[in-house]
Amino acid sequence: MLDQLITITKEAGELFKEGFYANKEIQYKSSIDLVTQYDLQIEEFLKKRLAQDFSDFTLIGEETSQTITHPNKAIYIDPIDGTTNFIHGLPMCCISIGVWVDQEPYIGVVYNPIMNELFTAQKAKGSFLNGKPLKVSQTDTLQESLIATGFPYTKIDKGRDYQWVLECMEAVLPLSRDIRRFGSAALDLCLLAKGSFDLYYEVNLKPWDVAAGILILLEAGGKVSTDTGYTYTLEDRVIVASNSEVHQDFIDILPNL
Ligand code: IPD
Ligand code: CA
Ligand code: CA
Repeated sequence: MLDQLITITKEAGELFKEGFYANKEIQYKSSIDLVTQYDLQIEEFLKKRLAQDFSDFTLIGEETSQTITHPNKAIYIDPIDGTTNFIHGLPMCCISIGVWVDQEPYIGVVYNPIMNELFTAQKAKGSFLNGKPLKVSQTDTLQESLIATGFPYTKIDKGRDYQWVLECMEAVLPLSRDIRRFGSAALDLCLLAKGSFDLYYEVNLKPWDVAAGILILLEAGGKVSTDTGYTYTLEDRVIVASNSEVHQDFIDILPNL
């Protein structure tokens, strides 16, 4: 299944590359949540190809699935993770495809066609970047940790998510090496798997943002949980992901949502 997924993702990557360098039609899901014709076209392409090859799986894509369900055999599709970067010509964007079986991650493929980086993982078989094995960092103090995060689209209403983001900045900035906000949750998890980041957290993600990256991280030796340390399901509000060494220390300083 992995080889077929890679072939399909790379085919979709051609459309992604074309779109990255082309003029885009932008539609607004909200004043800051944007979508281009390429998000729609790539998802349509992926759904068509995946339905042909994996007819026993339910396909859940960001742009075309009306309701989010979690069947026993699911493929979560983000046609462009990092759409804002894609629109602004920043190469931190990717296609993310996560296969989950019995509510557990089974295969993850994250492909950045612009930087030619293909992250893959299969359960119990390790994770790879362009075929080279990935391993998380060994950093074991927060003060030495480079931490990645993201800002939720809900920030716009200045509600509890927004306040929590600010409280986290206050708690995390002084106690860490620094914070990065690159704009693609899937790539954040892959960069953690690669050892570039030591920890990543975010609120209000959707299943297609993280379904692939979670396995890529776990197979590189990382850890994923909720903000209170429980097993993260694709339904939870907050994700905390790390090299596992600094996980508990981080949870100890994280404000309550
Ligand atoms: C977004 C990116 C971003 C994260 C947002 C996501 P999109 O996905 O992953 O890093 O902070 O919460 O929604 O909208 O570009 O597919
Ligand atoms: Ca996304
Ligand atoms: Ca997207």
